[in-house]
Amino acid sequence: MSELEDISELARRRGFFFPSNQAYGGTAGFYTYGPEGAALKRNVEDVWRDIYVREEDHMEVSAPTIMPEAVFEASGHLEGFDDMIVECADCGAAHRADHLVEDATDIEDAESYGPEEIGELIATHGIDCPSCGASLAGDPVEEFNLMFGTNIGPGSSAPGYLRPETAQGIFVEFPRLKEYARNQLPFGVAQIGRAYRNEISPRRALVRVREFTQAELEHFIDPETDDPPIERVEDVELPLYSTTAQNGDGGVERHAVGDALDAGIIGSEWVAYYLARSMAFYERIGIDMDRFRYRQHLAGERAHYAADCWDAETELGGDWIEVTGFAYRSDYDLSKHGDYSGEDFTIFRQYDEPVTVERATVDPEMSYLGPEFGGAAADVADALERLAGRDRSAFDGDAVTVDVDGDEYTVPVERTGFEITEQTESGEHVTPHVVEPSFGVGRLVYSVLVHARREDTVDGEERTYLELPPTLAPTAVAVFPLMSRDGLDDRAEAIAEDLRRAGLEVSYDESGNIGRRYRRQDEVGTPYCVTVDYDTLEDETVTIRERDSTDQTRVAIEELPEAIRRLLAGETLADIE
Ligand code: GAP
Repeated sequence: MSELEDISELARRRGFFFPSNQAYGGTAGFYTYGPEGAALKRNVEDVWRDIYVREEDHMEVSAPTIMPEAVFEASGHLEGFDDMIVECADCGAAHRADHLVEDATDIEDAESYGPEEIGELIATHGIDCPSCGASLAGDPVEEFNLMFGTNIGPGSSAPGYLRPETAQGIFVEFPRLKEYARNQLPFGVAQIGRAYRNEISPRRALVRVREFTQAELEHFIDPETDDPPIERVEDVELPLYSTTAQNGDGGVERHAVGDALDAGIIGSEWVAYYLARSMAFYERIGIDMDRFRYRQHLAGERAHYAADCWDAETELGGDWIEVTGFAYRSDYDLSKHGDYSGEDFTIFRQYDEPVTVERATVDPEMSYLGPEFGGAAADVADALERLAGRDRSAFDGDAVTVDVDGDEYTVPVERTGFEITEQTESGEHVTPHVVEPSFGVGRLVYSVLVHARREDTVDGEERTYLELPPTLAPTAVAVFPLMSRDGLDDRAEAIAEDLRRAGLEVSYDESGNIGRRYRRQDEVGTPYCVTVDYDTLEDETVTIRERDSTDQTRVAIEELPEAIRRLLAGETLADIE
């Protein structure tokens, strides 16, 4: 079996994750986390929270997963959140067209090609339908929007969508969130939650699914005045796979953050800061850093909002998989939501000294707008005011045209009350820029499992174990009675209870021989097992056995919770003897 097949088999058997709805034939692209997987996922999320919320001192929110259509009109998802689809004329199966091209050719960034070019590549490379083998040459390649649509309430008058990224739930609440930040930049808002994408071809277990968890941080900054504390991270070494390396024959190069910025390899200090901070995160959750890199996006690959973008990638089964996107989103999102909603998505930047500036203002004649535009008059007046602030040259001619909800209204300039006045101002409104590290929790969990899986031979018997970081493992300690009789079981249950009361995740197991119980815990990555035997009844000591080395030592029961705590904090069996 391949590395990925091994882990899927282990995941299903031991309760990490498995395909959902199997009783009804299964639903592609949906996975259920079993007891071990749900615990592992929670622990990964807790490490994320510890770094991006607690250590970085950001706020955490939890927004709804369904949002009205207007949000996605503004964000650009309705128009541009598409993948390319080709449907087989013979069997009707739908495929992600750019992936078919990537699989069949040396092209690595087929996503950046247009549908026509992809159609031609399918024809010239003679690509067949993976489901039935018929030729796909000539079958149309089209754009397919990935959002799941729904209706909010009965009827169809209020269309909504399941959010394709948690980020939008943060952006739309900016006018309120900035108040909690006392209207001061910079501040960050984090969210861990579900996102939904109607992927054309879900594949590779948790890698490409239709419902998944994202952990996203939206860091709002003033692009003119806010710099990251780069001095804290400038010596951190990053494995960088730059666009220059990708376009030539280069590979991953290790650069300290400071050097990478000086050499212009990373364009944004903010992005560099988060690439560096995230190294600690990946190491803490047990990603094998020899199978990890940061890859810069090629020009045609960037999302519709991103100005500078890097992906964190892990190597799984020979392929590189994106686990995190780091994007400098500029003011794209907040400007769009400001324009579409008419609400204030800016922050007031106070000047050191008041300044006198020229301002373009309007004072529209409502006695003209009212009869002319009826119910839209007030909106037209607002639109004129916004336009004057944004582009005073629009008022250079005899008439000016504004857009209100998709309709155009033309007003003679003399009726707008347009003038340039001198004003003394204490500050100005700025639209914050956004720096965004966006993590896919499922892909991280999957990477952690694949990278942690080990095989060895113990006492002549082959075993599989997960070398998970001890604090990340679903269970911290398993407690076994050697036999389930002679009071050993009662004693072991009491010890398990004490460990639980000490705040540890504990599993109690008395079924099967002791070797089999060790193997079961090894396979789910439990770092320590405690065995209660006949000596325990005499001398009040138990055996602690370590997962990776299988070494054992005896400790007094009364010292057990503290001993386990020290082991989880990184001490060794020798330290606690
Ligand atoms: N807000 C930015 C954003 O959503 P993205 O690169 O589209 O950016 C971020 O997604 C992360 O979400 C990815 O790095 C990946 O880990 C995860 N992700 C995206 N689509 C996914 C899918 N269909 N299945 C599993 N994880 C996915």
